[in-house]
Order: sequence, then structure tokens, then C-alpha cells
Amino acid sequence: MNPAAQQLPTPDDVDHPIGLGRKPEGLEGRRRNQVALLERYGLEPHSRVLEIGCGVGWLAYDLASRLGPDGSYAGFDVSPEAIDWLNANLAPRLPNFRFDLLDVANPRYRPKGRQTASKVRFPYADDAFDLVCAYGVFMHIAQPGIENYLREIARTLVAGRPALVNFMAITELDRNPRNGRREYVESSPGVYTNRPDREGWSLAFDDTLVRSMIDAAGLSIVASEEGAWHGRRGPESGAVPGADLYVVTPRS
Ligand SMILES: C[S@@+](CC[C@H](N)C(=O)[O-])C[C@H]1O[C@@H](n2cnc3c(N)ncnc32)[C@H](O)[C@@H]1O
Repeated sequence: MNPAAQQLPTPDDVDHPIGLGRKPEGLEGRRRNQVALLERYGLEPHSRVLEIGCGVGWLAYDLASRLGPDGSYAGFDVSPEAIDWLNANLAPRLPNFRFDLLDVANPRYRPKGRQTASKVRFPYADDAFDLVCAYGVFMHIAQPGIENYLREIARTLVAGRPALVNFMAITELDRNPRNGRREYVESSPGVYTNRPDREGWSLAFDDTLVRSMIDAAGLSIVASEEGAWHGRRGPESGAVPGADLYVVTPRS
């Protein structure tokens, strides 16, 4: 274990929203769940982890005590506030951790970004990682951006290794789907939002569309877990808290 992990500053005060809202699981539950899922799907002390949309860095903070000297972590986000803080506070203490700003436009988190999610290339080599996650990110990126991000996962992840990505995925069992008080409305075929007043915020996708985007990117689904948000199964039943999880791997 990295001794510096004992005395890391916590990202509590970073000025960047990560959407905790009134969600019942709260920050502690979210952190526990994200680490538990990585462990369930193969986190090892020597893993080379990529986190897409790392936010203020809670997962990096939690992985500091789990990754050994042969492991590594790279996280990127569109938020200069978050990435600046992480580069000033965590990166100097954790030599095998890096944090990258992608200057990508996002209607909610970075309206003035100069690149587009549908064209950006992740700043990493092919096959650089053996574990990838994107938690709570694909609710905030439009379909062409997600398609590109999935292709970039296929490029940067070793074939046969897992990427954990979650979506608000609507199935035929969902009648009047809603997240909290807000109902999802279809904005284009298979694409929904529960913030029709704010373009590009809070997106959901038909499960069939999610699966076809994954397949078209050269990825195969190796596991999936229904999220508790549907209200069909509570966390006590073992449902993954919040959004639906897809575990995918590049086809060789
Ligand atoms: C709801 S927060 C989740 C943050 C973190 N993954 C967590 O679970 O706490 C969504 C994050 O995605 C980031 N984001 C939005 N668009 C992005 C993009 N195109 N590329 C990378 N990150 C993006 C936001 O800046 C924000 O930090």
C-alpha cells in the first residue's frame, strides 16, 4: 500500500458538482459501491485503471490505498477546477496517479469546452489499461459522444479486460420511468431526458440502444446488473445502487 494514502487531503471542498443531490446512497454509499464493483470485476494492486469523468477524485482517493507500486491510475474530466485541485493535491503524493483535463464541451459541466466528445481522442496509448470505469458519466453525454467514448475504451483497454460503464437504461418493463421527481421524456428515438428544459442534461437511453452502441464500438458485454433506480429491486436485494451497470470488454 502506498504510505502517502494515509495522509491525503480529501476532495471535500473542490468546487465542482458531482450530482449527489438527494440520492439516498449519498457520497459514502457511492464510494463504497464504486470500489466494490471494481473489486468484483477484477481490481488488483497491480491494475492499470482508467477512470472516465473522475469528478473531484473520490475514486482516486479510495484507490490510493488499494493500488500498489506496480498499479496505476489515470483519471480525466472536463472540469479545470477538479483537475487543477487533483494535480495540486493528489498527484504530487501519488507518483503512479495522473489526472488529465480534456477540454471537451459539455452543456452542464463545461459549456465552453473547445473540443467535442464525439471526436476527442483519449490522451493514452492503445492497450494502456486493464480496468476502465465511467461512473455517472453517460447520463451527461449525447449519443455521438458516447459512441466515440466507447470506441476509445475499445482502443485503450486490453482485449478481454473489463470496462464498467453505467447508464440510465430504459427497458420495456419501465412504465413512465422517472429519476426522483422527474419523469423521462423521449427526445429522439431511444434517447430520453428528465430535464427537457436543459438540453443535454440527465439523459437515459433504451437498453437496446445501449447494447447496439457497445457492439458497434467493438466491445462485448460480459455482465450487466440492473440498477436500483428502476424501483423494481431495492439495494437490499443486491441490485446495484443507482444506474444500470454494463461490464464490457474489447473484442480481440
Ligand atoms: C455526476 S458526475 C460523476 C463524477 C464521478 N464519476 C463520481 O461518480 O462521483 C459526472 C462527471 O462527468 C464529467 N463529464 C461530463 N462530460 C464529460 C466528458 N465529455 N468527458 C469526461 N468527463 C465528463 C463531469 O465534469 C462530472 O465530473
